[in-house]
Order: sequence, then structure tokens, then C-alpha cells
Amino acid sequence: MSEPILVTGGAGFIGSHLVDRLLADGGSVTILDDFSTGHEANVSAHPSTAPLRVVRGSVTDERLVDTLVAEHPLVFHLAAAVGVAHIMSDPVASLHTNVRGTENVLAAAHRYGSRVVLASTSEIYGRSTEVPFKETANRVLGPTWIHRWSYSTSKAVDEHLAFAYAEQGLRVSIVRYFNSYGPRIDERGYGSVIARFVTQALSGEPITVHGDGQQTRCFTYVTDTVEGTVLAARRKEALGNVFNIGSAEEVTIRDLAERIRRMLGSASQLTLVPYEAAYPTGFQDTPRRVPDLGRARDVLGYSPTVSLDAGLALTLAWCRAHYAAAGERR
Ligand SMILES: NC(=O)c1ccc[n+]([C@@H]2O[C@H](COP(=O)([O-])OP(=O)(O)OC[C@H]3O[C@@H](n4cnc5c(N)ncnc54)[C@H](O)[C@@H]3O)[C@@H](O)[C@H]2O)c1
Repeated sequence: MSEPILVTGGAGFIGSHLVDRLLADGGSVTILDDFSTGHEANVSAHPSTAPLRVVRGSVTDERLVDTLVAEHPLVFHLAAAVGVAHIMSDPVASLHTNVRGTENVLAAAHRYGSRVVLASTSEIYGRSTEVPFKETANRVLGPTWIHRWSYSTSKAVDEHLAFAYAEQGLRVSIVRYFNSYGPRIDERGYGSVIARFVTQALSGEPITVHGDGQQTRCFTYVTDTVEGTVLAARRKEALGNVFNIGSAEEVTIRDLAERIRRMLGSASQLTLVPYEAAYPTGFQDTPRRVPDLGRARDVLGYSPTVSLDAGLALTLAWCRAHYAAAGERR
């Protein structure tokens, strides 16, 4: 990838790992990020000679987006209000970022002929029980006054926009991420159950598992998430298509909590918290979330390589060195 690359949300968790990878591959990268959940530390580790430019600003700034996209033939659009808990705390601003911001990026890319990879989410499938989720599956969502569904809906609007622009000639691919984790995972836990469990385990507080803990997820180590994203930008066959990018290793949330407690040698108790207590304004969970990876494998040649235990070991080592709760124990 020799052409200049724009990464929106490049100071965030996945975005910063993507930037690392693009620079390592010899790319020249511009980050557009408002640092609302991104961190300076995620991008400052690169040598000052690296072909990296950081622009502080918002994807909702139409003129700024227009200027930057015009300069970049390839755009990875990851900037978003992320995670169900975050969205529930400010649904209006989140919808604005996720819908208006994406519209700005796609419209500008269409104007200038840039290629786009759009970050979407497994939340798209909602409460569907047709497991494993195929990209062609129906979406099953709860009512609109339950804010947790607005994240899924905002990303679905993004996808609709992408397909609509694709019909008008935009070169775009969509990647639906399944629960990514790894070093740099934000300790405030935006949408990340792993970060929340690690913080609780490190501080010796109870590890709070919502519901009966039998709900399952497939956690994807971030280098596997990045690999799928890069493949979606490289392959011609990826254009106009949407891909699940995740791991097929399914784990219950209770098992995850136990593994984290054991691996950290934590004395924390495991506590089951009913959903009504955790989310008094209403919450509906997804019982199983498992990707069908057939399309990503066949079209992109994608195959995740990092097991949950190996990925957790790397992640927990990083969290021990960086989380405040770990510092309190030292
Ligand atoms: N982490 C996951 O498991 C996961 C799962 C599914 C989808 N995703 C998607 O992947 C992308 C990256 O998520 P992440 O986990 O790295 O989260 P993150 O919060 O670490 O990254 C999002 C980045 O976008 C930036 N941002 C937010 N609003 C912005 C705005 N208006 N203008 C410019 N920058 C803005 C934030 O500062 C942050 O750096 C998002 O689009 C998210 O919806 C992530």
C-alpha cells in the first residue's frame, strides 16, 4: 500500500494497531481523531521520522473530512462512538457521530474516488439466534426506546449508506468486527467486558457477570482484527462486500471471567448481577454471538491465528503494566 492512507479513529484501540501495521508495511498514514476515547499514548510510540501525521478533529466536520479524503486514495473509517455502554450514556451524540460522520467520509470518498474500508460490528445481528451469524442473516433488534439497539442501528445505517454509494461507484468494503481485544484496550472498558473484568480482578473487587453468565462471545485478538481489515482493503473481490471479522472460539462470559481471575491470580469473587440491576433503564442481551467466517475465508483468505488463552496472556501482561488498578496493588 504505497498510496497515502487515512485512518479515522487511528488513536483508538483497533485504529492504533491498524496504524502500526500500515506503517510496518511501508505505508504513509494520516490519522483523523478527536481523542474522545483515543489516546495520545496509542500513537506517540512511533519514531518522529515515521511517515505519520495526526490531525485532531472530528469526522462530523464536513469540510475537514472533505480536505483529508481528497488527499488520500485509501481510507479506513474506524472513528465512532463505540460500545453499547458508551452509546447508552449519550445516545444523541453517539448517533450523530456514527451516522453523520460516516456520511461525510463516504460522500467525500465518492467525490474523490477514494477506496474505503468501513468498520462495522457484530452488533448488526442484534438478538438473532441463527448462530453462527452469516453476513446474509436477518437482523433481530429490540424496540427503539431501548438505547442499546441504537449502536446496531447506527452502524446498519452506515452499511446501508455504503451499499447505496457502492451502487453509484464508490469502492467500499465493510468489516463487521466481533469483540476485539488486546494491548491498549481502554481501561474505562468502553464496551469491553475484558477490560472491565481485568480492572475488577486487579483491584480485588467482585467480578460482576451480567445475567447467568451463560451468554457467549467470540473474542478476537486485535492483530487478527487488523489482518482482516487490511485484507479487505487489498482484495479486489472485497469491493461492495461485507465480511465478518472475528474468531470462531466461543466462550461463555462466566468462563471468561474465571479465566481472567485465574490468569491474574486474583482473589476477586465472581458475582452474578441481574440485567435489571446493571441497566435500570432497560437492556436486552444477545445470547450467543458467533461469526460464520466462510465468506472472509473464501474471499479474503482470512483465518484468525491467536487463541483466546494466548491473546489473554498478552493482553493481561499489558494491563498489569498500564492499568491504574494494577498500580494500586504494586
Ligand atoms: N472493539 C471492538 O470489539 C469493536 C467491535 C465492533 C466494532 N468496532 C468498531 O471498530 C471501530 C474502532 O473501535 P475501537 O474498539 O478501536 O474503539 P475506540 O473508542 O478505541 O476507537 C474509536 C476512535 O474514534 C475516535 N472518535 C470518536 N468519535 C470521533 C469523531 N467524532 N471524530 C474523530 N474521531 C472520533 C475516538 O477518539 C477513538 O480514537 C469503531 O468503528 C467500532 O464501532 C469495534
